[in-house]
Amino acid sequence: MEFVIKGGTVITSTSSYCGDVHVKDGKIVTIGQNLSVNGANIVDAAGKYVLPGAIDAHTHLEFPFNGTTSADDYFAGTRAAACGGVTTVFDFVTQRKGQGIREAVAPRNALCAPKACVDYSFHVALTDLTPAVLEEFSAAAEEGLPSYKLFMVYKKDGLMMNDADIYRALERSKETGTLIAVHAENPDVIDLNIERFQKEGKLSPWYHYLSRPEAVEAEADIRAIHWARTLDAPLYIVHLANYEGMQAVRDAVNDGYEIYAETCPQYLHFTCDVYKRDDGRNFVCSPPIKGQKSQDALWKGIKEGYINTVATDHCPFRQEQKDWGKDDFTKIPNGCMGVENLYPYMLSEANKGNITFQKAVELCSENPAKIFGCTQKGALEPGKDADIVIYDPSIDFTITNEKMHSNCDYTIWEGTELKGYITSTYSRGQLVYKDGEFLGKAGYGKFIKCQRQKNS
Ligand code: URP
Ligand code: ZN
Ligand code: ZN
Repeated sequence: MEFVIKGGTVITSTSSYCGDVHVKDGKIVTIGQNLSVNGANIVDAAGKYVLPGAIDAHTHLEFPFNGTTSADDYFAGTRAAACGGVTTVFDFVTQRKGQGIREAVAPRNALCAPKACVDYSFHVALTDLTPAVLEEFSAAAEEGLPSYKLFMVYKKDGLMMNDADIYRALERSKETGTLIAVHAENPDVIDLNIERFQKEGKLSPWYHYLSRPEAVEAEADIRAIHWARTLDAPLYIVHLANYEGMQAVRDAVNDGYEIYAETCPQYLHFTCDVYKRDDGRNFVCSPPIKGQKSQDALWKGIKEGYINTVATDHCPFRQEQKDWGKDDFTKIPNGCMGVENLYPYMLSEANKGNITFQKAVELCSENPAKIFGCTQKGALEPGKDADIVIYDPSIDFTITNEKMHSNCDYTIWEGTELKGYITSTYSRGQLVYKDGEFLGKAGYGKFIKCQRQKNS
């Protein structure tokens, strides 16, 4: 299949210019002015922006968690991704006790492959850091799996890793050129707060926030960064949501350490006040959405370059699942949706003038590709996969669940007004979304081997 996207404004992380994009056999062949290619179809992009597909570096699809499973399976989650301009997702595989890394990934890959509508890779959430698993870091990296997540929380779910685990994993990641990511919150203080609130009968979603407020997350960010600094090992902090942690990242980066920070659209758009709403339970995720001071610090971090990626932590639960905790926040499955909203939201912020379009591309596409070693993605360049989004800056779009493509029966983004919207998504040159309609196919998405460069 061969076509030329003509007359659009091509956006990269550093520039924007009027250019035509020639695509053949799933790859970008060339980008230039007034391209004419014999026999190629023409896609008119006049008045539109042409961007690299987004990479959502943080999803939980058909994720067994909190005694249930997240609502989007690999089909629905990647369908929603395609419709939101996300052409690659990094999904989390949880290692079960006793399992090896590749042993944990193989069945998830088998589950995902026939359902995926866009390309995918995996991060492995380690729960059992045996000597054999540490040893396996290098072999797994050679097979395209260079990144791990360590939960500093979820003790009762059997997912938590202690400081010694973090230390050993960081040491080994440094030796092997792999990357450790942490979910940073202090589990003991959370448990203490929850116990107190339970005794006092304080069980509304607001107490989810109060049981794990800013300082609870910050302490763990600072602790993880401390070990990374001590070992001079790279570290990636997932879903950073608090101002003190943001400051710790800033300090470490300014001191020359390789610390990456990811935040999520829900932390950039909402504040903890959502937990006082009647539907507050739908916003319950961990870390919880914080106060205005944290939100401001995250935006400042984005503008100054201390936030490297915006990803979604897409982990939706249907209303009936969220309702288990209607009267008790401890029973609410943790997680929110966002894979279809990430790129439209960040591009809308660009269109409204809060950030540049270049910055949106850097955060949502180029940086995740670079950090996780996804070399064929993340930019519109000759030779790269033709993962392309066409965006119309003149559309006014109000998010409603009816227009979304997830399996979830509500969205926390309901009623959010966006300036501009995605009109087409191409995954390796294949049109998978156009004007509100999903056009992709289950099984089209491929596993992408990532090869992380040291100090990338
Ligand atoms: O609440 C959340 N974030 N659920 C998904 C699991 C995680 O901690 O990332
Ligand atoms: Zn997490
Ligand atoms: Zn997550």
